[in-house]
Amino acid sequence: MRLIILGPPGSGKGTQASILARKYGLLYLATGDIFREEIKQKTDLGRQVESYMARGELVPDELVVEVVRRKLESSSNSSIGFIFDGFPRTERQAKELDKLLSKINLKLSAVLLIDVPDDEVVKRLSGRRICARCGAVYHVEYNPPKIEGTCDICGGELIQREDDKPEVIRRRLQVYHEQTDPVISYYEKNNLLYRVDGLGEVEEVHRKIETLLKQFCNE
Ligand code: AP5
Repeated sequence: MRLIILGPPGSGKGTQASILARKYGLLYLATGDIFREEIKQKTDLGRQVESYMARGELVPDELVVEVVRRKLESSSNSSIGFIFDGFPRTERQAKELDKLLSKINLKLSAVLLIDVPDDEVVKRLSGRRICARCGAVYHVEYNPPKIEGTCDICGGELIQREDDKPEVIRRRLQVYHEQTDPVISYYEKNNLLYRVDGLGEVEEVHRKIETLLKQFCNE
């Protein structure tokens, strides 16, 4: 299974993609997570992407495609299956991905679009907390940790992402509609797009995705 998970910031892409990756043993590639790790490690790439992310702007396509190319080439299980989260985000990235995949004789199985209205996105992102140590994702109201401010998994401190501040959230949404809406049309034209209603509890959204996966696996 080779999947892309698309959707506005905060729609639950990371939450759902991690469940699918665990369940089906897929290579999980989240460009946002990769960039945040590079920033944390203070690498050259981290320095190059930091200001774009802090402003809620997209990182330039060249940098993103290069990162994905390297990850795909170095991953032993990419031929079995993968799930991309937050990539591609521009039509150019989508076309570059097609080229990368055709070079290694692979095709996408499906693109899942998690549909969530903008006002729900704002609620989800403003309440999101992530573990500074292991990256686990929580929500103060929808998915709280057992002990406030502490990760259930590793005991790390829970923090708010820099780009989850209200003014940056608004900009990220604007960028999504300007630059990622065309990616949705691109995959629609290629008959790869499956829409999932992203409202409802995490388990419920996961069940909707499973129903779709069964549908296209049987096509
Ligand atoms: P990235 O990290 O990809 O951020 P994003 O797309 O904005 O998505 P998020 O991680 O914010 O949200 P999500 O949809 O994964 O939701 P989550 O599961 O966490 O990108 C960050 C930045 O990196 C970009 O702005 C850009 O600068 C750069 N970048 C990355 N990729 C790039 C690319 N390809 N090209 C250029 N630039 C790139 O859930 C959100 C919250 O809601 C959580 O608190 C969660 O617990 C909660 N939640 C989840 N599901 C539910 C539910 N069903 N009900 C209630 N709450 C829920």
